[in-house]
Amino acid sequence: MTDDLASFEAETLARIGAAGDLAALDAVRVAALGKNGALTALMKGLGAVAPEERKARGAALNAAKDALTQAIEARRAALADAALDQRLAAERIDVTLPPRPEAQGLVHVISRTVEEIVAVFGAMGFTVAEGPDIEDDWKNFGALNIPEHHPARQDHDTFYLPGRTADGREKVLRTHTSPVQIRTMTGGPPPIRVIAPGRTYRADHDATHSPMFHQVEGLAIDRHITLGHLKGCLVDFLRAFFGIAHLPVRFRSSYFPFTEPSMEVDIGWNRRTGELGSGGDWLEILGSGMVHPKVLLNCGIDHTEWQGFAFGMGIERVAMLKHGLTDLRPFYDSDIRWLRATGFRPEDVASTATGIA
Ligand code: PHE
Repeated sequence: MTDDLASFEAETLARIGAAGDLAALDAVRVAALGKNGALTALMKGLGAVAPEERKARGAALNAAKDALTQAIEARRAALADAALDQRLAAERIDVTLPPRPEAQGLVHVISRTVEEIVAVFGAMGFTVAEGPDIEDDWKNFGALNIPEHHPARQDHDTFYLPGRTADGREKVLRTHTSPVQIRTMTGGPPPIRVIAPGRTYRADHDATHSPMFHQVEGLAIDRHITLGHLKGCLVDFLRAFFGIAHLPVRFRSSYFPFTEPSMEVDIGWNRRTGELGSGGDWLEILGSGMVHPKVLLNCGIDHTEWQGFAFGMGIERVAMLKHGLTDLRPFYDSDIRWLRATGFRPEDVASTATGIA
């Protein structure tokens, strides 16, 4: 019987050592020390043992129980350590690995061009003004000296919107940024120096026209502004914007209802190669003129005291010229390949890229 106990203990110790995980270990414990376990059964049988052997037998059983309990505890601790080690190994993070590059957005060529224009005019003391895309026909046409039934209203292929404004005017998608002239002049007294970049709309769609496009308006009103200021300002701007110090600039007499005199501005380029700055050909780039006295009066400004110049320029046009882009349509297709090829890194600040000193 003593031998039986010794071999049972040795066998159970071996099984404890072999238990590969906590569940297996617990099975060994239950089989030996559980309510119906082998050692428990032996202890229950103690009463049947002859009284002279009982004491020694009881001590031996207790010793075996202690030994097994200790061995189980030790094994449990070892298995728990091993499990933790395994988990730590599995969850290990190599902090020295470089991060995966994040997808980076780029600045659209239109946004970039607006930033560049704002940077150049900002250096000349102009601030940015804004107006809404939906205008009333008074600010888009009437106040600009474009009367009802004037051909300019048809020329602009205007999108009219349903309904009327609170003061009963027709609603249009602005066909140019010139209504911002009206908003600025009625919004506060001169002197004024603003540029107003923004979206404009005309019902026109082909390779060089989009029904939505961008313009930038310029307006300078002061007491002694002359055509000379207009010319100097625009020549400086165009040379800084295109980064060509001797870019040829030509002022050509024209007509706009809201300026008098009016001039269209051309820059020198090579029609064959598309190269700017030389080649003997001319390319129309913007409209300009001295603000018409009627427009000043429409805005409550005394035209005998104040005068100034205004200009309007298509942003897509100058962006395409500057960056050698030949098709307008992909500008608004949101094709990620085109955007990647033409986009600008946001950290490249526009003002440092222009030629303005
Ligand atoms: N608004 C004119 C256009 O869209 C441009 C312009 C603006 C001309 C200001 C003169 C002065 O064509």
